[in-house]
Amino acid sequence: MSLIYRIKASQPSITHGIYDYLGEMRPFAKRVKKLHLVIPMLLLKTIEWSIYRWYKTPIRRFYGVKGNELIYMITNACNDRCPKCGIWERPEPQSQHLMVSHFIKCLNKLHHNLYQVTLTGGEPLIFKKDVMLIAEEAKKLNVPMVIVTNGRFLDEAFLDKYKKLGHILVISVDSVEREKWNEFRGRKNFDIVMPKIMLAKKILGDRLRIQSVLSKESSEEIPKVIEFCKQHNIQHNTQYNQDFGGSWTNLHKEVVNYDTETPCAARKNICIYPNGDVVKCFDHRRIPLAKEPLGNIAKQDIIEILCTKRSTEVSKIMKTCNLPCKNMSCNKPQTLLFN
Ligand SMILES: C[S@@+](CC[C@H](N)C(=O)[O-])C[C@H]1O[C@@H](n2cnc3c(N)ncnc32)[C@H](O)[C@@H]1O
Ligand code: SF4
Ligand code: SF4
Repeated sequence: MSLIYRIKASQPSITHGIYDYLGEMRPFAKRVKKLHLVIPMLLLKTIEWSIYRWYKTPIRRFYGVKGNELIYMITNACNDRCPKCGIWERPEPQSQHLMVSHFIKCLNKLHHNLYQVTLTGGEPLIFKKDVMLIAEEAKKLNVPMVIVTNGRFLDEAFLDKYKKLGHILVISVDSVEREKWNEFRGRKNFDIVMPKIMLAKKILGDRLRIQSVLSKESSEEIPKVIEFCKQHNIQHNTQYNQDFGGSWTNLHKEVVNYDTETPCAARKNICIYPNGDVVKCFDHRRIPLAKEPLGNIAKQDIIEILCTKRSTEVSKIMKTCNLPCKNMSCNKPQTLLFN
């Protein structure tokens, strides 16, 4: 199913209808774990599909209630210098940094469609005040939030407030040993951040997660991180190394195995850059039609941006897009992520 339906009810095409129906049902059926529930769930899904296929709301339809993830790269700036990542090399000038009110407006417009809002960067906690404003707004709107952080700017006051909001915090850790940690962060902050991770665990409990990047450089360290997480009862996710403009290399080519049948979950993402530009996935430059941003939330309404013909076409292309970035955490359904 594309983000917004293109074909009018008065001009149906049977082949397109069948293709669309099967494309929707096959991956859905695979996700139903209990065999005896497959048929009832498929019936319900068919009803949902039929409604959305033949009925369009006045502003045209998004994926459906709680169907999308809004990902905000709040800044490119960072206080670490990880060799795996080149984002920190291109901090946006202050004049190009989006005012938080624009993002909050966007969140308000989209909240019925969102199952999650994720804040990443750069280092999101450089803008701690704005991050808290967004976290509070997300709570009001009943949208679960995830912050992905290097943990350097965490403190007790922030964690206490964040805990009350019930959101998730993901801290990135690629080694639990001082020397490697400092090498992997490009900054000697093992002794500062490690205690903060323990504090976050104490305050947030199971709302704290740890994510690691698996590459040739980190391959000996990640099992130790996983062991650390087990010892401290913290859910862990491994993300395969991708091209983030850094110098790390993939462990094995064949480790990145694409599931060609399930469409890339990123087609349901709505991503916002630090300057307010909107794209459908952060790897959009790999798709020729998606190279240019779809719009900018400082200048246009997010609904208008997502309802343009190009947005619809890009969503359609993404349905069959099978590039290595498909395996990134933010491009997978959240349920698959942590264990
Ligand atoms: C770009 S960072 C931004 C948030 C924050 N600065 C942090 O490091 O957690 C978001 C996530 O991408 C991961 N990441 C960085 N470089 C990567 C790479 N080359 N391949 C895959 N993931 C990467 C980080 O470890 C982190 O979990
Ligand atoms: S991975 Fe995160 S902490 Fe490391 S340089 Fe990139 S943005 Fe900064
Ligand atoms: S495979 Fe990569 S480029 Fe293609 S839709 Fe998914 S995230 Fe975007």
